[in-house]
Amino acid sequence: MGIVDEDVARVRAATDFVQVASEHLALKRVGQRWVGLCPFHAEKSASFSINANEGLYYCFGCQAKGDVITFVREVEHLDFVGAVERLAGKAGIELRYDEAREGQDRQRKSRLVEAMGRAVEWYHQRLLDGPDAAAARGYLRSRGYDGDVVRAFRMGWAPDDWDALAKALRLPDEVLKDTGLGFVNRRGNQQDSFRGRVLFPIFDAAGKPVAFGGRNMPGSDGPKYKNSPETPIYSKSRTLYALNWAKSEVVSNGEVVVCEGYTDVIGFFGAGVRRAVATCGTALADEHFRMLKNFARRIVLAYDADSAGQAAAERFYEWERRYEVDVAVIALPPGSDPGDLAREDPEGLAKAVAEAKPFLAFRLDRVLDGANLRTPEGRARAAEAAMGVIAEHPSELVRDQYLMQVADRCRIDADQLRRGTFVARSSSPSRAEGGTPVPGRMDPGGPELEALRLAVHRRDEVAGRLRAVLFADERNLAAFSALSTSATVHDAITAADPGAADLLQRLAVEESSAEVDDVLTQLVRRAAQRALGELEADARANPEEALGLAATMTWLKVTLEDLPDAEAADRLVEWLVRWGEEAR
Ligand code: UTP
Ligand code: MN
Repeated sequence: MGIVDEDVARVRAATDFVQVASEHLALKRVGQRWVGLCPFHAEKSASFSINANEGLYYCFGCQAKGDVITFVREVEHLDFVGAVERLAGKAGIELRYDEAREGQDRQRKSRLVEAMGRAVEWYHQRLLDGPDAAAARGYLRSRGYDGDVVRAFRMGWAPDDWDALAKALRLPDEVLKDTGLGFVNRRGNQQDSFRGRVLFPIFDAAGKPVAFGGRNMPGSDGPKYKNSPETPIYSKSRTLYALNWAKSEVVSNGEVVVCEGYTDVIGFFGAGVRRAVATCGTALADEHFRMLKNFARRIVLAYDADSAGQAAAERFYEWERRYEVDVAVIALPPGSDPGDLAREDPEGLAKAVAEAKPFLAFRLDRVLDGANLRTPEGRARAAEAAMGVIAEHPSELVRDQYLMQVADRCRIDADQLRRGTFVARSSSPSRAEGGTPVPGRMDPGGPELEALRLAVHRRDEVAGRLRAVLFADERNLAAFSALSTSATVHDAITAADPGAADLLQRLAVEESSAEVDDVLTQLVRRAAQRALGELEADARANPEEALGLAATMTWLKVTLEDLPDAEAADRLVEWLVRWGEEAR
């Protein structure tokens, strides 16, 4: 970050978030919040909320969140500095820059990339002409990778030594560590991470080398793949193997093929499908889609779609909706992967991509192709099974079109099917039906969340009355601790761990009309009952102490009876705090 912190704070304070956001979406005031259609995902009902006082936003649909700077970064595709500059320009603030700091960060990353580049070349040369790489070359040839393929993908060989790379490159210790290429062992010597492995270098979309995937030789022990760890230049969820090479064809085709492994990608390229990428040892996730949708609107999954059942279906449909992409799957012969198929039947593999179908069509075909449609009973059974699959899709329009296909193939009247099993089954009904999620009402989350809402929005009213002992849930407790040690909600979010920060961010755009005393009473009652339970367990476990504990338990029970009396609540809180301290 190159701008001095103080100026970033000034920009934040001088910026009217609602006004900035209004340039991008229509906002409506609802109570203390402003709501509108989320600019980060496609939706028909408003799930995007802004808390103007705290300058925070949260989307209940896609969980996008942040402050005005994050917002501008995301909607205008700017980096942090660019976003702050843009807002500073609006507010008429002159920014001061911390050259040294910005320089350091950039310099550090470019040093790491440079080291990775040297490692890619060194490993590559070892594979091309190292005498110890003969077996690896033979193995790769046996898989159909000739010299051209090895060069095109800059594959490498990591010798089976402790420190071959470290000795050759002589990188500073921290560069060796920060790239994940090696580490310093207990004797203080540099050691390599990759040993006796064929390496697939991984580049970012711009073509900078950032990581390696390392495959062992057949018959050796250890995991089949060892991959680079996450580093300052490498994030698995934001990297797709081969995107640097596939990019131009992905863009010109408007389609990207996503597969599971490095060798699948290489197989696709060999079969002439030069728009394939792979996740790097992780599952395909939201971040990948967020990235891919900038390159192509059609995403073809070259996974084993047969084993991807209902759980996968929900995710696919959700991605389609959220990122406005079409997700299709290719049908592969059972048990084969694209890497193998590319050698046996390259034309077949290319054809499979051309014939990729929407996931729902694919599953429907599986159901209907396997059914006996010659008898009335068979057709009825098939129609029922097919309707079950169709019901998983969140869009009524889509469902109805497939329903008509089923009606046709099973020779059943479409209206009869519509009256029958045609009910949407979705994990999130409020979204599927386009209803506005009502924060607070939809997910009240019990008194602990209500108390946190109060702590966020009506801090003064709960000051000193809420205590850590009243929270049983770990995440709620973490959120509360962050709030009570920070001056503002914004600071609390920065200080909290990711789970608690996420929660606080969400609560910041909710509101509470609850009575402080009510919430407090409920919290105290629950906490006291938890304590009672623990005391009872103690008494059973240590009969000699049971008598002493009995007096405390009686006092607790009697005082609990006095709730919701405010004084009783205060006495219980006092006792709980002391009890909590003793326990530690
Ligand atoms: P596969 O086991 O299908 O490997 O794992 P592959 O890429 O097809 O390799 P070959 O064809 O058997 O040589 C698919 C992907 O899962 C990750 C790798 O990214 C791999 O490419 N993976 C697999 C790991 O990260 N670690 C493992 O131990 C195995
Ligand atoms: Mn394979």
